[in-house]
Amino acid sequence: MRTKEKQSNHGMIEMTTRQADRLTPAFEAEADELVSHYPVSKRSASLPLLHFWQNHFGFVDDSGVEWIAAKLDLTPINILELVTFYPWFRREAAGRTVIRVCRTLACAMAGGYEVKEKFCEAVGLDPHSEHHGFGSAPPTTADGKFSVEFVECLASCGSAPVALINDDLVENINASDIPALVEKLK
Ligand code: FES
Repeated sequence: MRTKEKQSNHGMIEMTTRQADRLTPAFEAEADELVSHYPVSKRSASLPLLHFWQNHFGFVDDSGVEWIAAKLDLTPINILELVTFYPWFRREAAGRTVIRVCRTLACAMAGGYEVKEKFCEAVGLDPHSEHHGFGSAPPTTADGKFSVEFVECLASCGSAPVALINDDLVENINASDIPALVEKLK
């Protein structure tokens, strides 16, 4: 994790890994621009700001929760409850490539569980490793390259089984093609 030097009140140089201490003027300007889209209720910018934050840092730490809450005149719990409710958001770093395999009915019946198992095997993860949610990182390879997790319906039931690889939807997955697919991602 990156660190940054910071001058403390008593003049000592401290190292910090707080995400909010690493914001740039450009980041803050873009965040303000996002908030300006919601003139009636700034609270409506909560999810857009969380997406913006996580896209930038990879996850949302305590300082991010506090910063977004302050920006929207909310309390930190108003933001934390979103981070822990929506599985998309994380409070810990995941791999650079996150593979989300759908396990809802259509995909489960079309082989979604086998697809997830094959992805885990191909990247070197235990196919039976547990992910407890609530903002925790999904199982991630030791080199930080890949995370694999189950998700619920990705709204592409007609082309099951499907997976989301970072932002790309992969449809009609044939489990036997997965090793080659993962090789291309390495
Ligand atoms: S059930 Fe998998 S996309 Fe809908």
